[in-house]
Amino acid sequence: MSKAIRFAETGGPDVLTLEDVPQPEPGPGQIRVNNRAIGLNYIEIYFRSGVYPVPSLPSGLGTEGAGVVDATGDDVTDFQVGDRVAYAQAPLGAYAEQHVLPAEKAMRLPGPVDFETAAATMLKGLTVQYLLRQTYPVRAGETILFHAAAGGVGLIACQWAKALGVKLIGTVSGPEKAQLAMDHGAWATINYKEENIVERVRELTGGDMVPVVYDSVGKDTWETSLDCLQKRGLMVSFGNTTGPVSGVNIGILNQKGSLFVTRPSLAGYADTRPRFEAMCGELFEMLASGAIKADINQRFPLAEVAKAHEALATGKTTGSTVLLP
Ligand SMILES: NC(=O)c1ccc[n+]([C@@H]2O[C@H](COP(=O)([O-])OP(=O)(O)OC[C@H]3O[C@@H](n4cnc5c(N)ncnc54)[C@H](OP(=O)(O)O)[C@@H]3O)[C@@H](O)[C@H]2O)c1
Repeated sequence: MSKAIRFAETGGPDVLTLEDVPQPEPGPGQIRVNNRAIGLNYIEIYFRSGVYPVPSLPSGLGTEGAGVVDATGDDVTDFQVGDRVAYAQAPLGAYAEQHVLPAEKAMRLPGPVDFETAAATMLKGLTVQYLLRQTYPVRAGETILFHAAAGGVGLIACQWAKALGVKLIGTVSGPEKAQLAMDHGAWATINYKEENIVERVRELTGGDMVPVVYDSVGKDTWETSLDCLQKRGLMVSFGNTTGPVSGVNIGILNQKGSLFVTRPSLAGYADTRPRFEAMCGELFEMLASGAIKADINQRFPLAEVAKAHEALATGKTTGSTVLLP
C-alpha cells in the first residue's frame, strides 16, 4: 500500500484526506516516482474548491513533484529505475508517496538541483520562463508590472527579471512582502492595501506606464492592470486568485489604448516534448548558476495538506511551499 491525499467532493481544505491506496503500477509509457518533495500550487485550490473541474471524483490532487524513479512501464526508454527526476503537469495525484505519470512529463534532474528545489520551482519556474521569455519577451531596461510579487511565481519572476536587466514593479499586500520582493530583485514595489496601483505606476515610470502587465490576481485587478498599460500594451492575465475575469466588453481594449490581451497557461506553452525540454533547460541553468534560488518558506508534512491549502489560499505564504511525504 501507499499513502495519497484524496477528496471525494469539492469544498474547503478539510475535504482533503490522507488515505492508504494500492501501490500504483505504471502502464506503457509511464514511470512511477517515489516522491521526495511535492510542489504546492494555487491551481490545486481551484481544483479542490470546484473552480476548475476534475476529471472524476473521488480524485487525487497535485501535478508537480520530485523524487526517484522506482518502476517503469513498457516502452519507456528515456528513464531507468534510480533516476532522480522532477515533473510538472502530471495527471492529478502528485500529493502522494508515489505517483505514476507519463514519462514525457518528467525530466532528469541535473546534479546541483535537489528534490525540494525542483518541486518548489518546476511548475512556477516554467511559468515564469514562458511569461518573461515567450508571451512577452522582456528586454533589458524595460519596466514591467507583476502582481503578487512575493508569492511562489512572483519571487521567481523578481529574480528572473533582475537577471535579464528588467525593472520589475511588484504588487504586494504589506511591508514584509515588499521587502522580500525587493530582496529578490524587484526594482520597486506597490503595497496595494495602502497605495493606488495606477498612480504609483505613473510616478515610477515618469508617466510612461508599462508595456506589459502580468496579472494572476484576476477579477479584482483586471481594470487596474489595463490602466497601467502603455498604448498597444499587453495584458497577460494568467491566474484567478480573486476569481476569473469574465463578461469582458472587448471595446474596453480600444478605449484604454488599442491594448492586447492574452490568457495563457503552462500547458499551452510546454505542449510538446522539445518545447518542454527547452524550457526546463533554461530553468535548470538559471537554478544551477544561482541566478534563481528556490524560496521554500513553508514545508508541510503530506498529512497536513489542509493547513498548507489554508495558508496559500489566505495569502499567508511567501515564496514556494512544498509537501513532504
Ligand atoms: N497560467 C499559468 O500557467 C499559471 C501557472 C502557475 C501559476 N498561475 C497562477 O499564478 C498565481 C500565483 O500562483 P502561486 O502558486 O505562485 O501562488 P502565490 O502567488 O504564492 O499565492 C497567491 C498570492 O496572491 C496574492 N493575492 C492577491 N489577492 C488575494 C486574495 N484575495 N486571496 C489570496 N491571495 C491573494 C497574495 O499575495 P499578496 O498577499 O501580496 O496579495 C498571495 O500570496 C495563481 O493565480 C496561479 O493560479 C498560473
